[in-house]
Amino acid sequence: MHEAPSGPLPYYEDMGPGTGALPPRAWTGVSDARRVNLGGAWRFRLSATADGSDESFARPGFDASRWDVLPVPSHWPLQGHGQDHDYGRPAYTDVRYPFPIDPPRVPTENPTGDHLRGFDLPGDWPGGAAVLRFDGVDSCARVWLNGEELGTFKGSRLPVEFEVGEVLRPRGNVLAVRVHQWSSGSYLEDQDMWWLPGIFRDVTLIERPEGAVTDFFVHCDYDHLTGNGSLRVDCDPQGTVTVPELGLDIATGETAVVPVEPWSAEVPRLYDAELATEGERVPLRIGFRTVRVEDGVLKVNGRRVLFRGVNRHEFDPDHGRAVDLETMRRDLLLMKRHNVNAVRTSHYPPHPAFLDLCDELGMWVVDECDLETHGFSEVDWRRNPVDDERWTPALLDRAARMVERDKNHPAVVMWSLGNECGTGRGLSAMADWIRRRDPARPIHYEGDQSCADVDVYSRMYANHEESETIGRRAEPPLLDAESDQRRRAMPFILCEYAHAMGNGPGGLSEYQRIFETYERCQGGFVWEWIDHGLRRRTADGGAYFAYGGDFGEELHDGNFVCDGLVFPDRTPSPGLVEYKKVVQPVGFAADLARGLLNVTNRHDFADVSGLAFHWAYEVEGELAAEGRLEVPALAPGASAEVALPRAPRTAADGEACWTVRAVLAEDTAWAPSGHEVAWAQFEVARPAVPAGPLPGAPHAPRRVEGGLIMLGPGMFDAADGTLRYLDGAVVDGPRLDVWRAPIDNDRGADWYPEGQLERRWREAGLDRMRHRIDEVAPGQDALTVTTRVAPAASDLGLRTVYRWTAAGDRLALDVEVTPEGPWTLPLPRLGIRLGLCPTLDTVEWYGGGPGEAYPDTREASRLGRHRSTVDGLQTPYVRPQENGARADVRWAELRRADGSGLRVTGAPPFWFTARPWSTEELAAAEHTNELKRGDLIWVHLDHGLHGVGSGACGPEALPEFRLAAAPAAFSFTFGTLRAGHPAGPRPPF
Ligand code: GAL
Repeated sequence: MHEAPSGPLPYYEDMGPGTGALPPRAWTGVSDARRVNLGGAWRFRLSATADGSDESFARPGFDASRWDVLPVPSHWPLQGHGQDHDYGRPAYTDVRYPFPIDPPRVPTENPTGDHLRGFDLPGDWPGGAAVLRFDGVDSCARVWLNGEELGTFKGSRLPVEFEVGEVLRPRGNVLAVRVHQWSSGSYLEDQDMWWLPGIFRDVTLIERPEGAVTDFFVHCDYDHLTGNGSLRVDCDPQGTVTVPELGLDIATGETAVVPVEPWSAEVPRLYDAELATEGERVPLRIGFRTVRVEDGVLKVNGRRVLFRGVNRHEFDPDHGRAVDLETMRRDLLLMKRHNVNAVRTSHYPPHPAFLDLCDELGMWVVDECDLETHGFSEVDWRRNPVDDERWTPALLDRAARMVERDKNHPAVVMWSLGNECGTGRGLSAMADWIRRRDPARPIHYEGDQSCADVDVYSRMYANHEESETIGRRAEPPLLDAESDQRRRAMPFILCEYAHAMGNGPGGLSEYQRIFETYERCQGGFVWEWIDHGLRRRTADGGAYFAYGGDFGEELHDGNFVCDGLVFPDRTPSPGLVEYKKVVQPVGFAADLARGLLNVTNRHDFADVSGLAFHWAYEVEGELAAEGRLEVPALAPGASAEVALPRAPRTAADGEACWTVRAVLAEDTAWAPSGHEVAWAQFEVARPAVPAGPLPGAPHAPRRVEGGLIMLGPGMFDAADGTLRYLDGAVVDGPRLDVWRAPIDNDRGADWYPEGQLERRWREAGLDRMRHRIDEVAPGQDALTVTTRVAPAASDLGLRTVYRWTAAGDRLALDVEVTPEGPWTLPLPRLGIRLGLCPTLDTVEWYGGGPGEAYPDTREASRLGRHRSTVDGLQTPYVRPQENGARADVRWAELRRADGSGLRVTGAPPFWFTARPWSTEELAAAEHTNELKRGDLIWVHLDHGLHGVGSGACGPEALPEFRLAAAPAAFSFTFGTLRAGHPAGPRPPF
């Protein structure tokens, strides 16, 4: 039994949602009622405990002139540093509560921020009723205005309003807010993110004239069979609704049925309208659409939709969850430009203005309640609040505050009860309430696999095979036959998949194929949109992104908080570029023999008339010809064959490739005309060029002074056979390399030891391979170096033979690798690495680019001629790790400022990586600022790489992307480039 404390619990520990608030209601950003934004500079005092300071600060006349000044909205732990204050530190845990689990009690150490703000009313403020609104306070607050206590509240990411008209004065108002970091509400808010207290969203005073809108509910459906929209606005009090464009002027409560254009995420058609009551005029933006689960499929306006989604937390690297309108818009523009069409608001309702933007720009939204009790899994779900009736009022309060606030957004197509709460009666009560209040939207919750309360079957991180089985409606049955039948008839979504932590996620296109094959699989939401790295400045003027543990937390989950498709500063990571390509809404296939291109419109609603199509024909990466393609205005789902022009040159000119692109024909609200939406490449088969010796007169190796062997432009160490100089420049000779700086997906997850490749690789010694030189044999026309590459304490090895030849001013290397011993583990990489002079800073290559690619993340890699710098090739994952490989490289050049440098050609094409630090340095760094340029540029020329998968929280690399230890042979040719060497096309070696 758990001892109840004597006496009632304080408000911040009782299980209730709070006291004194008005009933929740619909949000409107604007109306003709006056508003005062109370954001800005507030007075602030931080105490270490909840009751350690008195309440006199809330009384009129209190002198706070010695208090600090704090901006509102903000999180106080992010405000103290760099100024003279210490407002505590952010803390990150994923699942675990950072306090003892003893609900509803919280620790005595309970950082408490007293906030004070004085304000005068504008001169034209009419007096009478008014509400004071808080859009987000983490986690519990008590509020006074002019010394009168208004009430208390919890529910960090939910709004609350208090009636304040009686208490307001024209001048000299004092608003006092006491905010506790920990409250009973914290047990309901165990989302995987930083713990960040504060008044982090707007505080607004809103006039409520006599007869103003209390609440309203816009019901607007679309009948795809008749093309009619129906509109009814319920409102308290009664009023009228006008929609000028539709010629509508109806009373609230009355239904109008008229022909309309429907709203969808692809064509977000909104109608401007106005709701007028006696006391207020509220502008509305109405979108007509109907969401329904029908025949086992989730449909909008009668059509199956496919979610190309992301999970979005609200995050800014400097301001935490205090996110401004500009940042919200930026997120949506970035999403739209990367073909993302859906957002799950993980795991709480976003700032209300975000949903306005979703209506406007077009985005399917799964609106999730501010609820997660995941930390109870640490104690076998004992005392889980969602299964304890005493908490049900708090849960219902949360459901109501979400639904009432957001019910008028066409973008919101599903309600989600919360995330990872286990199961319980409280969740069922929420679902019942929501269903009664808003029967027009399906309900989502992933945590109850029996799907008792929901309308869609949702899973997180199901692997490809399982997703496919579910797609066939062939998943193992639930024990209860009736529940099983119900669930089997539901649509399926992956509310989280493709964990985007660090380098990855791999396997996206294989998921997409499943979504496109099985009607039941309606897509998913990548985990997650953004890395929650907090920006920290360094003494030398640099900066890096911090993660769990960087603030001295006693318990933390490290960089698991950095698992997004965009970096903390919103730079797209390669994962987002890959996702854009994988989910592109136009598909291409070519039959080059017949000169035909097949174009498929993969939109669910839009035709392709908004797109312009282009072709280009490139030879050896150089543009040979280009033009427009005429594609008919294909309906959603339709395909057409269009003729490609005649190939401008013959394949004998070199390797040729068609690139076809679909770009925006006109400016849209989210991108300018010309923005590329979809593309594909088709390589023209070229006649096989017989491999042979280097052109020119062959050189023979010969011993020279200083224990060296000279072979053409190469000078080798006679003792170990390594290349020391190439054309006079120092080289840290190439040798076999199998190691990579482990990526987060190699580390895997705590709960799945089998997937922990890094641990298994290190145990096997792949990070400490030794090179035994068995023979250095200068022959007639080649220098052959035989080695065995192997780790201590193991009989696994890789017999490796390097065969060097030279002709003219070029040097060629053939590598042969033969595994010895019982290899079962995949290799991280297989190739050679060499160190070069650091002035070789400019890079040009012909192969895949412009961005990085790995075997299972190479959809967005485009064959062509690319240029960069060594620095530009690096991908700054928040925790440094293997990155930056370019796929399918035919040749690469590294040059100095004067144009001199090195050129390497591979047969077959290779993976090219160059970095200003070594793998060991990369692996040792915990943050990006620890990486410093060294004395060499390290170049990796890889024959194979292991896939990246998404094993940090999901499936490992699929079997086809596993780099098995197997016999391999590959070759490179090195040549030097003279200063002033002209840039531009050069014949292939
Ligand atoms: C899920 C959870 C997310 C996040 C993710 C891992 O279980 O719902 O909030 O923790 O795993 O990054």
